[in-house]
Amino acid sequence: MPKSSRNKKGKGKKNSVKGKKENLLFQSPRGMHDILPLEQPWWNKIREVSQEVSNFYNFSRIDTPILEPVEIFERGTGASTDIVEKQMFLLKSRGRDRLALRPEGTPGVMRAYVQHSLSRLGQPVKLYYFGPFFRHEQPQAGRYRQFYQVGFEILGGEDDPVYDAQTILAGYRLIEKLKIKNLTIKINSLGCKNCRSVYRKKLQDYYKKNSGKICKDCRRRASSNPLRLLDCKNENCQAIKNQAPVMLDYLCQQCRNHFRQVLEYLDDLGMPYNLDSYLVRGLDYYSRTVFEIFAENYNVSLGGGGRYDYLSEMLGARKTPLPAVGSSLGIERLIETMKAQGVNEPVRNRAKVFLIQIGKPAKKKALCLIESFRSAGIKIIESLGKDSLKSQLRLADKERVEIALILGQREVFEENIIIRDMKSGVQETVPLNKVVEEVKRRIK
Ligand code: HAM
Repeated sequence: MPKSSRNKKGKGKKNSVKGKKENLLFQSPRGMHDILPLEQPWWNKIREVSQEVSNFYNFSRIDTPILEPVEIFERGTGASTDIVEKQMFLLKSRGRDRLALRPEGTPGVMRAYVQHSLSRLGQPVKLYYFGPFFRHEQPQAGRYRQFYQVGFEILGGEDDPVYDAQTILAGYRLIEKLKIKNLTIKINSLGCKNCRSVYRKKLQDYYKKNSGKICKDCRRRASSNPLRLLDCKNENCQAIKNQAPVMLDYLCQQCRNHFRQVLEYLDDLGMPYNLDSYLVRGLDYYSRTVFEIFAENYNVSLGGGGRYDYLSEMLGARKTPLPAVGSSLGIERLIETMKAQGVNEPVRNRAKVFLIQIGKPAKKKALCLIESFRSAGIKIIESLGKDSLKSQLRLADKERVEIALILGQREVFEENIIIRDMKSGVQETVPLNKVVEEVKRRIK
């Protein structure tokens, strides 16, 4: 857990409304943000597009608990990965269960698949999720301690490369639909148990031979998790890394064919990709295809994923591999990229009508009147706490509505209401029982 729930000075103002700040004793935990109403149109847009893409490619929604047994991450994501070693938020329940705030979605989805025997359904099962995840990282742009992901997972059935291509495609199309441009996919194959162990040994031997020239972390990785050697960003290790053996040269025939077919699907779809032999993805459950999606000028990945045929075995659920592949995208990073690339703010479902009420009898009528607009499916806004015509008109103007309805004491008495065209300022009085119809006619 973070040592303190208070933000450092100046932090945590990401979404704040400009102007005078209130003094507050507590702030949201470091690296965790409120999503304020002004930000919501971006989030709604991504939720909407996620649903559209999932429906189109036949992914059904799954929601798993935010807390999961720690073991599924230790066994699946990997005990020696940064996520498990350094970034998990852990809790002990009163029943002494060891639980973790989920740092990622894939092990939980696999757990649910096994727990609920989804293998009895038509295979493969295609699932998608949208929700919060937690990693105790050093907060910076695009890296938060609570962040959201949308994920696509295909579990069961065949280990057909077409599914690898489809999970990449779903993520890629989702990003495209958000109007994010200049995307590239980095892709690699990590092979299967057999060919990877040959490669791992080669890599280990190579680094051991060069142990005098590499950093302390790499010396540790060389024995604990050799593939992570390729992740090292230390400048002194780059020369050694550049000469290191490459996984693609060690793929067995089946893995080589599998990877070739994934790339052929991407070629057929016209999706731009770069082979990246250093892409290892840092989660232990991957085998064969791994990939990440990037946008130009944004140096962290928008999404990533890969095949994880061994995960069900790693969770102790089966003795043979269960074909599975998936991808997930980070919502905050998508929004940051949309903004950086100048994508227009998604339009809110704006109300076109504002109800102004003046005086007690009018306020009394207002709620019922609003209900008749609700029944007619017309969105209407108001400020029931305000009394003066001037302040309510100002608000109506600010909300850029087309029509203001003015209900005063006299109108209530005469059972009328004033319709004001906000653009021209022209006003007309109509019978109260005809106002919904009249408004409907006027708004496009
Ligand atoms: P991941 O690469 O760890 O993969 O995360 C996927 C995406 O989540 C990243 O590309 C990024 O957009 C976002 N993300 C990750 N960490 C943070 C963070 N601290 N702050 C903001 N955004 C973040 C997985 O999580 C795998 N479960 C993906 C997968 C699905 N593999 C197979 N199926």
